[in-house]
Amino acid sequence: MKVAVVGATGMVGEVMLKVLEERNFPITELLLVASERSVGKKLTYKNNEYTVIGLADAVAAKPQIAIFSAGGDTSIEWAPKFAEAGTTVVDNSSAWRMDPTKKLIVPEINASELTKEDKIIANPNCSTIQMVMALAPLHEKYKMKRVVVSTYQSVSGTGVKAVKQLENEIAGIDGEMAYPYPIGRNALPHCDVFLENGYTKEEMKLAREPQKIFNDKTFSVSATAVRIPTAGGHSESVNVEFENDFDLADVRKMLHETPGVVVQDNTDTNTYPMPIYAHDKDEVFVGRIRRDETQPNTLNMWIVADNLRKGAATNTIQIAEYLVENDLV
Ligand SMILES: NC(=O)c1ccc[n+]([C@@H]2O[C@H](COP(=O)([O-])OP(=O)(O)OC[C@H]3O[C@@H](n4cnc5c(N)ncnc54)[C@H](OP(=O)(O)O)[C@@H]3O)[C@@H](O)[C@H]2O)c1
Repeated sequence: MKVAVVGATGMVGEVMLKVLEERNFPITELLLVASERSVGKKLTYKNNEYTVIGLADAVAAKPQIAIFSAGGDTSIEWAPKFAEAGTTVVDNSSAWRMDPTKKLIVPEINASELTKEDKIIANPNCSTIQMVMALAPLHEKYKMKRVVVSTYQSVSGTGVKAVKQLENEIAGIDGEMAYPYPIGRNALPHCDVFLENGYTKEEMKLAREPQKIFNDKTFSVSATAVRIPTAGGHSESVNVEFENDFDLADVRKMLHETPGVVVQDNTDTNTYPMPIYAHDKDEVFVGRIRRDETQPNTLNMWIVADNLRKGAATNTIQIAEYLVENDLV
């Protein structure tokens, strides 16, 4: 495969290259693409040095697959140009996620929707991916009615500038701010921009994307997204009400048997998911599984994943692998 990685110099881009290498993605030619600022810069993949090129040169090279993580504006402008050149784009930004003509894919759940005609495919939001990974088997068996989620999101989810802000605060350096307030020793109930309805854009992604992924509007999601001073890994407290009652042992067994999900749940040994354990792993970790004692058919869980891996790079590359394995590019 001739593969382009657009946004190769960014935080997600760096993890993309690592995951492509780890999974030995079948690459015959690799194009590393970034903004004009980075053209000519050298990056390494599998011990070989590559020179970063610009978007126009990458389109002209007609790669079979282009993996985008370069922000929404770049995707809006350039993904259609790649698609016109015959390239299949898998996009990490929010640009195409809710476009009714584009598919929103978590491979373990709905990759079978993909066809050769899909030339721009969207990767869901990082917080959505880890939540639906744990909800999918439960929704199938017990049918969700309503989900209430509160997130505890790391600074790496905002990008390089935010990671630097936290590092500067820890080192006592007065530096550039990614957030309107200090993030160290703090919690900001503010991820992405505020919308007219009083929610943030991140919260509305969590509310809308699961309905599209499950192709089901019969359940609803209410979200509060909070930024906390962890370097990497997002955590979520998820309360889910089902149509049907469940048995806790069955819930644990089902999650345990779900590919890509790991149950870490033993209060006797203080075993529960945490960002430091999820770091650099592809799985979604689920624990603190317990019945909500205040209303029927309702479950509480704590879900953690590495936002740069399953939340971004790994999910995107799994989509690309599915396309290759099923002869869809
Ligand atoms: N961080 C996360 O947890 C996460 C999770 C899921 C999805 N995403 C999405 O992934 C994307 C990248 O996020 P990130 O955290 O990796 O950001 P980042 O570290 O700021 O990197 C941005 C990348 O995009 C490139 N870029 C920016 N403007 C460009 C342009 N006009 N033309 C071509 N390339 C351009 C940058 O190139 P230069 O180095 O040349 O500027 C860099 O490679 C965003 O859309 C984000 O929403 C992020």
